[in-house]
Amino acid sequence: MCGIVGHLGTFNSLSVVLDGLEALEYRGYDSAGVSLIDRDGKIITAKKEGRLTNLRKEVSNLKEIYFAGIGHTRWATHGNVNKVNSHPHFGDGFSVVHNGIIENASELKEELIKEGYQFLSDTDSEVFVRLVEKISKTEKEFSKVIFTAFSRIRGNNCLVALNRDERKIYAIKNNAPLACGQSDDGTNYFVSSDPYALQKYIDTIYFPENNVLCVLSMDQEIAFVEPDLSDSNKFKTEKNSLLSSENTKGDFEHYMLKEIWEQPNLIDQFKIHLENEANQKFLTTVPKRIAIVACGTAYYAGLFAKNVIESRCRIPVSVDMASEFRYANPVLDKNDLAVFISQSGETADTLAALHLCKEMGVKALSILNVAHSTIYRESDFNLMINAGPEIGVASTKAFTMQCLTSVYLSERLMTLMGESVDLVKFNKQSSRLAKKIEEILSRTDEIKKIAESIHSLNGFFFTGRNKSFPIALEGALKLKEIAYVHAEGYASGELKHGPIAMIDEGVVNIAYIENNLFEKTLSNIQEIKTRKGIILTIGKTDTEELKNISDYRFPLDVDDLDDLSPLALNVFGQLLSYYIAKHKGTDIDKPRNLAKSVTVE
Ligand code: M6R
Repeated sequence: MCGIVGHLGTFNSLSVVLDGLEALEYRGYDSAGVSLIDRDGKIITAKKEGRLTNLRKEVSNLKEIYFAGIGHTRWATHGNVNKVNSHPHFGDGFSVVHNGIIENASELKEELIKEGYQFLSDTDSEVFVRLVEKISKTEKEFSKVIFTAFSRIRGNNCLVALNRDERKIYAIKNNAPLACGQSDDGTNYFVSSDPYALQKYIDTIYFPENNVLCVLSMDQEIAFVEPDLSDSNKFKTEKNSLLSSENTKGDFEHYMLKEIWEQPNLIDQFKIHLENEANQKFLTTVPKRIAIVACGTAYYAGLFAKNVIESRCRIPVSVDMASEFRYANPVLDKNDLAVFISQSGETADTLAALHLCKEMGVKALSILNVAHSTIYRESDFNLMINAGPEIGVASTKAFTMQCLTSVYLSERLMTLMGESVDLVKFNKQSSRLAKKIEEILSRTDEIKKIAESIHSLNGFFFTGRNKSFPIALEGALKLKEIAYVHAEGYASGELKHGPIAMIDEGVVNIAYIENNLFEKTLSNIQEIKTRKGIILTIGKTDTEELKNISDYRFPLDVDDLDDLSPLALNVFGQLLSYYIAKHKGTDIDKPRNLAKSVTVE
């Protein structure tokens, strides 16, 4: 959630840290701050509420070349969004940035206050700072201080400390992302909560394991240290080539719009990646049952995947939200397969569910976008969605590619079951989907007009049946996230069991129509119309009845797409949400209260 960047070396730390934070700002953007060591060997700290641009203005008078610094973009958990609660937090001779939640912060704070320590902020992060101060009184070796302080806190955390006198950066984590590396010539050293921020500087990225201390110091290899201060080999290494550099908006006004438009090309390119996927380690036996676990949009992709896998492979599939699954005492055994879907590969609840499954001896297969992510490294098998970086906080192309990858997974499972699988057919079907999405994109003006007409309504009910039900949920989530309006997703047949009480002339039913169950869906729409609800229908079957009943209509023939048809219909929902949000004037790429990667539980 929060973004962390640290630098030490010959480059100007202020620029490196600010540029790194800019690359990560989509992950958290309540406030931002930096600590730097100046020429006189003093730590200077600047923080500012709001976006990184505010911090940039604040530090624009700092003309010195700084050789060491750490920075942070915050997604607030403990304590309001204000300057005092912003990071870095500092003690005597050191400064700290934090990502995660210190679960026992209240009890530690109470203990420290009793001992006379004073707190400036309301954050859990400052507890670590005061612990470091306390331990430093009796322990002079800073590595030991950090280890001892870290051993006292509970939860999934990453902490990075800048030490003034030693001119070093220390970083440590437990179940939270952390990456570091050094330039080839050994003159610059970097650490971050996300390698994405470092990709332009380093060729090799190190991913330390939990409880391994990384120490960055000038003119030395990065040291990885065990709690007993011996050298550690518990870190993984990846080549930077795994990372993509497509991180600009191009001519698009927002990343979200760019990412929506990327979809046809990504779908077409997917077949190119399949050869590589087919060579990756995969299951050798057919699982008895499959448990899909994910959050948010990825959870809806899981619902899509359930339909596909169950109908094609006849393997029973359950789908759970990761935050529920882990506390639900799930019934799984060693013959089952757990499937985790995550764009970032860092979502804390999904990761915790993965750990639970591994403890239970259940094999884990993950459907991911980020190859070097924590979930990637901890899974038994991975299938990559190959969507490229998704910067818009509202997920669009990742959803489409997660769903498409789940169709590919069903093909792989069928191969295991001894069925002859026709990848040529899969590729043809994908190409048809890509073409259909192109058609929808070329009809953007129609969608803009609809958005203009309905944007000020009070309620938006997305409905779909069977395979289109997940995209009704996804459509409503998209609209809520970026337009801040009341939107809900329902199975068409469910409205009459309660939600229909909400329907009046200020509410629109955005109904996805497919030819199967057409008459039943029409009856559901009729029920809404009778209650004066406004009707927007998307799909084919242009019968007179449908034309008469619809206040707004987006005809679209998706019959030839088979299982993939919802993915085309969903693009309508993505664009509709986008243009409604434009009318509302919201911050589309960085909607309020959200962050791209949810690394707290
Ligand atoms: O990175 P993940 O796919 O694990 O993220 C899961 C959700 O947090 C994410 O899909 C979220 O719901 C998006 N903001 C939806 O647009």
